[in-house]
Parts: sequence; structure tokens; C-alpha cells
Amino acid sequence: MSAIRLQEVTKAWGEARAVDSVSFETAAGRFAVLLGPSGCGKSTTLRLIAGLEQVTAGRVLIAGQDVTSLAPAARRISMVFQSYALFPHLSVAENILFGLKVRGVPAAEQEKRLKRVADLLGIAKLLERKPSQISGGQQQRVALGRAIIAEASVCLMDEPLSNLDAQLRHEMRREIRSLQQELGMTMIYVTHDQTEAMSMADQVVLMKEGRIIQNASPAELYARPVSAFAARFIGTPPMNVVSLPSITGEGLLLGIRPEHIRLDDGRNKGKGVAAQVDAVEYLGADSLVTCRVGAEILTVRLPGQVELKRSSEARLAWDPEAVHLFDAASGLRVERETHTVVLTT
Ligand SMILES: Nc1ncnc2c1ncn2[C@@H]1O[C@H](COP(=O)(O)OP(=O)(O)OP(=O)(O)O)[C@@H](O)[C@H]1O
Ligand SMILES: [Mg+2]
Repeated sequence: MSAIRLQEVTKAWGEARAVDSVSFETAAGRFAVLLGPSGCGKSTTLRLIAGLEQVTAGRVLIAGQDVTSLAPAARRISMVFQSYALFPHLSVAENILFGLKVRGVPAAEQEKRLKRVADLLGIAKLLERKPSQISGGQQQRVALGRAIIAEASVCLMDEPLSNLDAQLRHEMRREIRSLQQELGMTMIYVTHDQTEAMSMADQVVLMKEGRIIQNASPAELYARPVSAFAARFIGTPPMNVVSLPSITGEGLLLGIRPEHIRLDDGRNKGKGVAAQVDAVEYLGADSLVTCRVGAEILTVRLPGQVELKRSSEARLAWDPEAVHLFDAASGLRVERETHTVVLTT
């Protein structure tokens, strides 16, 4: 049975559909990420699952039960928002215990759960402090603690790490993921950050303009994007999707990931695609080389530091298996096998 199931869920405000006939399911104990650009409907979808918004059409099921018309409290889920909204006048412990107190959970049980959660999150020494007396990352963990202590089997998070610096984000990603696995929670996590999605999720639901573009594992999304949009959304830097009719023929776009392009310095004349080096960005472990092929720009990712001068000639090469094809008009993926064009360069 799926822990969460959406059936053709739509949310309209007047004419505008923030969420447009969205269907997906997430199995119990899985980590699903709702990913997509700003305004694509991620938060609205999450709020519909939580019951904070009413659906215009469609059904929401939690653990097989239709909860579409139930109030948020009756859905037995916990939620962490982007702004973690701790009560400033309450201590860390009181903040974490707030929900249990409201529900009248016995004091001994409260103490037991508080200890477990505080140990798990490494905040046992901070319990007496006020939110203003702890760091942003610690506040974030208190907000997580407040959600976890409810011991709901489903947890919803809306960009919970957006206020943190890069280092702390990285740590917290790992912490949230291992907590989710340790506690066997079903997680629906919203982010517009594809690195976050790829590194945390079992399942990525990629959205655009209120609709699902692709619902797949991170590996599948990377290896077989269903459209040029999905291809360009995943990867750092993202896939090059360019028009090179001399290679693909008319009507197709060629997709190739930066890490799948080899670069010759031009001595192998006649092999590969002729290109001109535009810029080299050294990143430490690798370098990004921006190349110009006719009117198109392609990014190449190469290990280590690269000695290439601006405007120098280069040849780009790749394996035919690394090529993705998309229909130029619809943007949809076209299977390579159905094409007889020669994609080797
Ligand atoms: N209460 C509302 N009334 C009218 N329109 C709304 C309301 N809430 C959201 N919208 C619109 O619905 C669309 C989806 O909004 P939503 O907050 O779900 O986007 P999002 O994917 O979470 O974006 P972000 O990454 O910026 O948080 C947007 O176009 C937004 O302007
Ligand atoms: Mg949002």
C-alpha cells in the first residue's frame, strides 16, 4: 500500500491552476522530493497533502485512507516549513514538546521522547535555551525535532534548509536522510535545488507549471530525462541541449552531459566536432570549459586543471551511448535506437 497517493489533484485560484491534475504515489518508508522551478506548484501540492489547502478536484489518500475532506490534525502527519517559526518565548524543550502537550500525552512519555529526539539531533545540551540563544542550524534542528517527536509515519518538509549556509545544508541533508531511514518515515520533501533532490531522494517528482514532467528515481532522471526541460534541470552543470543538424539531422536537439564530452586539442584533425574555446573555469577537482560550436555553446567538464587558451581550437568527441535526442518542436525525448543517424563524431 502506498503511504501517500494523489489522484488527479487540481488546485485552482480563479482561472489559474497552481496544481493541474497531479497524480503520484509514494511507498511507505520512501523519501520523495517534489522538485521544480519557482512557482511550479510544489508548496501548494504539499499543502494539499497536509490539508492546509482544499483541493479543487481529485483525491488525496494517506495509508490507503481517503483524507481529502479531513482536517490537517486528523491526517496524522508532521510538517516542517521553510520558516521554522519557533516560539521565541519558549525554551527549546518546550518548543519541541508543544504538540505533545496540546495532545495531552503523559509527562513520562513526553520526557522519554524528548530525550530520544534530542540525542538523535545532537541538541541535548541546548534544551533550556531560548531560540534566540542558539544558531540558525540549531534552530533548524529544533524545528525538525518538533516534527519528529510527533512520531507520525508521514513527514512533509517545505524547503527546510533554505536559510542555511552551504556547509550546514550539506550536513543537514545527510542528517535528515539518515533520520528518515532510521525512523522508517515516509517523507515528502520540497526543494528547487536539484543537488538536494538527487542526493536525498528515492523518488523525484519533477514539476513544471503545475504538472508532473517526470516521476522517477534520481538515477533514471539523470540517465533518461523524458524531455529537454528535465534534461536541463538535472546535473551541475546541466546537460547541454543544442541544435546541431549536421550531426542529428533536422528537427532534433542533441543532449550531451558536460562530463561525457572529451576534448582534443586539435591535433587529431578530422576527428570530433570543431569547436573554439570560450572560457575555462577552474573549480578545484575539475574544470569547466565553455566551447563554441557554430552558434551553439557547449560546456565540457574535465578533471583537474586545464591548460587551454581562450579562442584556441579544440575538437569535441563523445560516445554514441552518451547522446540524448529530443524532438525540437515538442522537447520530448526520442529514443536513439529509432534513429539511424550517425551520432559518433
Ligand atoms: N493563495 C494563493 N492565491 C493565488 N495564487 C496562489 C496562492 N498560492 C500560490 N499561488 C500561485 O500558485 C502557483 C504555485 O505556487 P507554489 O507556492 O505552489 O509554488 P512553488 O513551486 O512552491 O514555488 P517556490 O519554489 O517559489 O516556493 C504560483 O503561481 C503562485 O503564485
Ligand atoms: Mg514553495
